[in-house]
Amino acid sequence: MKVTISDQIKYIGVDDTDIDLFESQYVVPEGVSYNSYLILDDKVALMDTVDARGMEAWEQNLLEALAGRKVDYLIISHLEPDHAGSIGRLVELFPDVTLVGNAKTFQMLPQFFAKGLDSCGTLTVKEGDSLTLGTHTLSFYMAPMVHWPEVMVTYESSEKILFSADGFGKFGALSLTEGEDWACEARRYYFNIVGKYGNPVQALLKKAAGLDIAMICPLHGPVLKENLGYYIGLYDTWSKYEPENTGVLVAYASIHGNTAKAAECFAEMLRQRGVEKVVVSDLAREDMAEVIEDAFRYDRMVLCAASYDGGVFPCMQDFLHHLQSKTYQNRTVGLIENGSWAPCAAKTMRGIVDTLKNVTVVEPVVTIRSVMKETDQQAMEALADAIAHA
Ligand code: FEO
Repeated sequence: MKVTISDQIKYIGVDDTDIDLFESQYVVPEGVSYNSYLILDDKVALMDTVDARGMEAWEQNLLEALAGRKVDYLIISHLEPDHAGSIGRLVELFPDVTLVGNAKTFQMLPQFFAKGLDSCGTLTVKEGDSLTLGTHTLSFYMAPMVHWPEVMVTYESSEKILFSADGFGKFGALSLTEGEDWACEARRYYFNIVGKYGNPVQALLKKAAGLDIAMICPLHGPVLKENLGYYIGLYDTWSKYEPENTGVLVAYASIHGNTAKAAECFAEMLRQRGVEKVVVSDLAREDMAEVIEDAFRYDRMVLCAASYDGGVFPCMQDFLHHLQSKTYQNRTVGLIENGSWAPCAAKTMRGIVDTLKNVTVVEPVVTIRSVMKETDQQAMEALADAIAHA
């Protein structure tokens, strides 16, 4: 798919449509793109390389765009191998290229490339430093822990372009997702990959607010050219850990289906109370990353789980540990447990939920014995009232 930036700035990234799991953990049914950009001015600057998986196609794109010229600078926004994986090849092609990074970049670079980079020069930049290529000028802004320590973004002032590293990135190969809604897969990407680092993202957004940005070129997903306030606004909401929408996620962990039935029944009670958005998710079968995305998206969550081995059914434990590690916060939570002889799921869930910042557990905590019955109705209704009005 052809991506147009401008006369002097070319997209030379590649789609990866064969990858099974991005970062060996995220399903990407529509693949992912590794974006790389080339600025052709008096000097030629390359904005990041690509994952080694896409190196061959990227090299072809690079050489074609260069049309016989050489690369003077490689700007290294981020050293994670999905972007830095072809640095070695770039240096083989252009041995005297100058690598541009910050102090942390050059501390970490030899960990990935113990040899093979001796021929090239290095230019260490710090906050606000500039590099002039001719009519284009690059300014560098540090973005530590969005989501690695060496991350930096680059602003090109003549065309008002922000090269935003992983920020504003999205799952999905460009050739398979043209015209697709941005937020769904960008949100799943954000909360699962960057979610823990809300404060560093806030710091970066404050820096970006001081720049006149006409286009955002991220390292994954589409180039953003219009309505930039929409994307920046979502990043602001997400990184402040504010709910994006009013609604309830009902996440369940069911062994034989009885807890699932209770979860569905509870969801119906919420709908009857006028809760406009209720999402029910099976933690044992659905994409965990999608459920994590929904947990952050909505303002309320109900956890419904079977007891197991003196604790909670493992997929619920796993889910809560993910939320804990992504610093889930500022939400209201309800608990429903199921147990046939010694219900203990709620105690285990609460033990984890209580570690989360500004998360309120509403009463009552509901206990079901094996199968939901008439006698459970009252407690379920009471919890539905509490969640609906929270
Ligand atoms: Fe797309 Fe953090 O690498």
